[in-house]
Amino acid sequence: MTVRVGFVGVGYIAKEHLKRVLTDPEARVVALCDTEPSAAEATRASVLDKLKGTARDDLLASFAQAPVHTNPVRMFQQESLDAVFLCLPPFAHGDVEFAAIEAGIPFLVEKPVALDLPLAQKISSALHARGLIGAAGYQSRYSRIVPFVRETLGDRTIAMTLAHRFTKLPPREWYRHQNRSGGQVVEMATHQVDLLRHVVSEISTVYVSGGRRIATHDPSEIFDVSVASLTYDNGAVGSLVTNMVSGHGNPAYARGIHVIADGLTLSVLGHEGESRTIEVVTAEGRQEHTFDDDSMAAQDRAFVRAVRDGRPELVLAPYEEAVRTLAVTLAHQQSAETGRPVQVSTLLGHTA
Ligand SMILES: NC(=O)c1ccc[n+]([C@@H]2O[C@H](COP(=O)([O-])OP(=O)(O)OC[C@H]3O[C@@H](n4cnc5c(N)ncnc54)[C@H](O)[C@@H]3O)[C@@H](O)[C@H]2O)c1
Repeated sequence: MTVRVGFVGVGYIAKEHLKRVLTDPEARVVALCDTEPSAAEATRASVLDKLKGTARDDLLASFAQAPVHTNPVRMFQQESLDAVFLCLPPFAHGDVEFAAIEAGIPFLVEKPVALDLPLAQKISSALHARGLIGAAGYQSRYSRIVPFVRETLGDRTIAMTLAHRFTKLPPREWYRHQNRSGGQVVEMATHQVDLLRHVVSEISTVYVSGGRRIATHDPSEIFDVSVASLTYDNGAVGSLVTNMVSGHGNPAYARGIHVIADGLTLSVLGHEGESRTIEVVTAEGRQEHTFDDDSMAAQDRAFVRAVRDGRPELVLAPYEEAVRTLAVTLAHQQSAETGRPVQVSTLLGHTA
């Protein structure tokens, strides 16, 4: 069976998914939806141009002819879709997910899955009640770095982690508004938070200092610097340091996760969309390993195959996991605003 795929939100990140889904012989992109049809058309033209000669002609032809809808509900009713990619800005979640669930269409939704935790929890429950696959766009979970990190750490005690993400304000109008993007940690450093949760342990407490230093020159409501202290369930401690002011060309030091464990320090350097280096330092010396696998391609293929074969276990970042990552990042935001430590379980509605 070929999986008939639709896209809702056809901007920057949809382009990245389209380049990968269109080279998957198990998928066919048959419908697009964007409230700005010109954005969908621009993305389509750019993808067709990029993939000319590299993807199968018949798959490119269906994509070239895919109707562009402006209303997701109508797209779900009129097109016969097996799966949908939701590549919406952070503020636009809710109705689209419920409509997909109502129509019985499994989805892969980009992170952050919402800006409101109760909403994300409701979507998660609705997916569960309907028995539908819900995947979230945390592509790092599909990278070969994950088994390598797990194997290298083995059962060593992890003492602490250091993570940082330095960049510049992305050129999206919605980004500078707190209630539209959620800010840098909710929208962007969520990748680091999710990976830390995945390979280290659940994060239980967040205590943050945030500031608005430089990006405010370009009217922006979001914190452009933050320093967070993290406490993990397993007793380890950590820091997460972010800024949106030093991404002058993304220097190599701009993103990293360091795990300091009994007898070794392991550093993951680089961007989740590009080749990454892992450095392992022990008493015996220093080793470097390069990983250039395309984790987004692996993620998108896993989702398509999970839908085709009815195998939800192929999805390594299920929706409910993304909800927990969202909770940590919202705790981060709350702590930055209040100057007080926040327990993630309080936000999730559990007793600590
Ligand atoms: N996984 C990653 O590495 C990664 C990287 C970049 C962005 N993202 C995430 O992807 C999401 C989208 O970001 P982007 O950079 O593509 O944004 P974008 O602004 O480039 O694209 C979003 C598109 O959605 C459309 N849209 C808005 N509301 C809609 C609605 N209700 N129905 C249909 N279409 C609607 C907009 O017109 C726009 O074309 C964000 O949540 C972002 O955090 C993920």
